[in-house]
Amino acid sequence: MSTSTYPHVLTRLTATEERLRLALEAACMGTWEVDLASGAVSLSAGHEALFGLPPGSFPGTEGALFEAVHPDDLETVKQSVCRAAQEKAAFEVEFRTVWPNGSVHWLAAKGRPFFDENGQAVQVVGVGMNIDERRRGEADLLETNRRLEETLAELQRTQQQIIQQERLRAMGQMASGIAHDFNNALSMILGHSELLLCRPETLDDKSKALAQVQTINAAARDASQVVGRLREFYRPREEDEPLGHVDVRRLVERAVSVSQPKWRDQALARGATIAVETDCQEVPLVAGNDAELSQALTNLIFNAVDAMPDGGTLTIRTCADSQRVTLQVRDTGVGMTCEVRQRCLEPFFTTKGEDGTGLGLAGVVGVVQRHNGKLKVESQVAKGTTVTIKLPVAERSRSAPDAMSRDHSRAHSGCRASRTTRLCGRS
Ligand SMILES: Nc1ncnc2c1ncn2[C@@H]1O[C@H](COP(=O)(O)OP(=O)(O)OP(=O)(O)O)[C@@H](O)[C@H]1O
Ligand SMILES: [Mg+2]
Repeated sequence: MSTSTYPHVLTRLTATEERLRLALEAACMGTWEVDLASGAVSLSAGHEALFGLPPGSFPGTEGALFEAVHPDDLETVKQSVCRAAQEKAAFEVEFRTVWPNGSVHWLAAKGRPFFDENGQAVQVVGVGMNIDERRRGEADLLETNRRLEETLAELQRTQQQIIQQERLRAMGQMASGIAHDFNNALSMILGHSELLLCRPETLDDKSKALAQVQTINAAARDASQVVGRLREFYRPREEDEPLGHVDVRRLVERAVSVSQPKWRDQALARGATIAVETDCQEVPLVAGNDAELSQALTNLIFNAVDAMPDGGTLTIRTCADSQRVTLQVRDTGVGMTCEVRQRCLEPFFTTKGEDGTGLGLAGVVGVVQRHNGKLKVESQVAKGTTVTIKLPVAERSRSAPDAMSRDHSRAHSGCRASRTTRLCGRS
């Protein structure tokens, strides 16, 4: 290098150094150097700022450097530098620094050792950078995460409470439903027994008396099945548990007879006449629970009677195709408004005030669903209401229709294929 170029090189070096300084300043970074033999430490003005020191005030000793490091992080810093010297590798370390005013700040330092000709580490040089913002971001993220976890736990607790409340509500509904159906059965037992008590002469006619007692007996059996449902609440029916085979036409006969105190005697007592017509075609058996279906039908009859305070006609029909048995209950009563029609299946919905629980139709829906059936309610104000239930034909009836209808005919010897009966309050 000629002497004429020397000042030129110096100028270039100064310019490079200046650019480096500017870049470090813009990045809020500083440089540091540690002389391992003497323990002398030199910091750039930028790095002094990272330690909260005014320019040129750092004493330049290892002790002063260690003093600037947070005591809890000092060991980590020392180990990083030692490891870098031993392994002859660059290192990175993040630590807290305590400023003279007591405030704590995060720094990230990157450095590398330099060695003499014997391979002995003589100097460690590096840069430092303030990472307060990143650390705050991380802390915020951790805090947000913690809060999210708390909220999630709270949500899970609330969900558990809702499930628990839902269970209690379901239990309450079930208990009310059972009480409702039990009450229906009891009212029939009471009605028939009161008839016997009011008309003791009935007892002289053995066959009439026997029929009454049989009706009371059937109602009592239904009542005991209602109570049996309580047990089923804790032991739901297994998927493959066999269902009984129910003859819907027989169900209708029995329900009409058992509910007689309601549609005939109670109606008569208030001066109304209700005619009951049954139009029952012979239908295949359905797989189901006799008592449940019987309670459902009784509920529909009771509703129909309630809807005809001035009397009218209650018609019960059965018919079937190859897949489904249809059971239809129609009345010529007051009918339902659009709003009532929309809400009538809701549990506890009633327009009967103190006299109704609003669980009748909800119970019917439950029974129909358990039998994989369908329910439809049609109603017109002042014209009447028709409730149609469709239940799947039992597999056995479907696979051997001839045999089934033979069985069926034998069971009902004397029945015509389609039977229409009219019963009337005043008959
Ligand atoms: N056949 C019907 N005609 C007119 N309205 C009906 C008929 N059946 C049901 N409803 C309406 O639907 C409502 C709900 O019926 P649901 O059987 O569930 O309860 P409820 O009859 O009021 O009470 P409960 O069954 O305890 O006597 C009734 O209050 C009534 O307004
Ligand atoms: Mg009802």
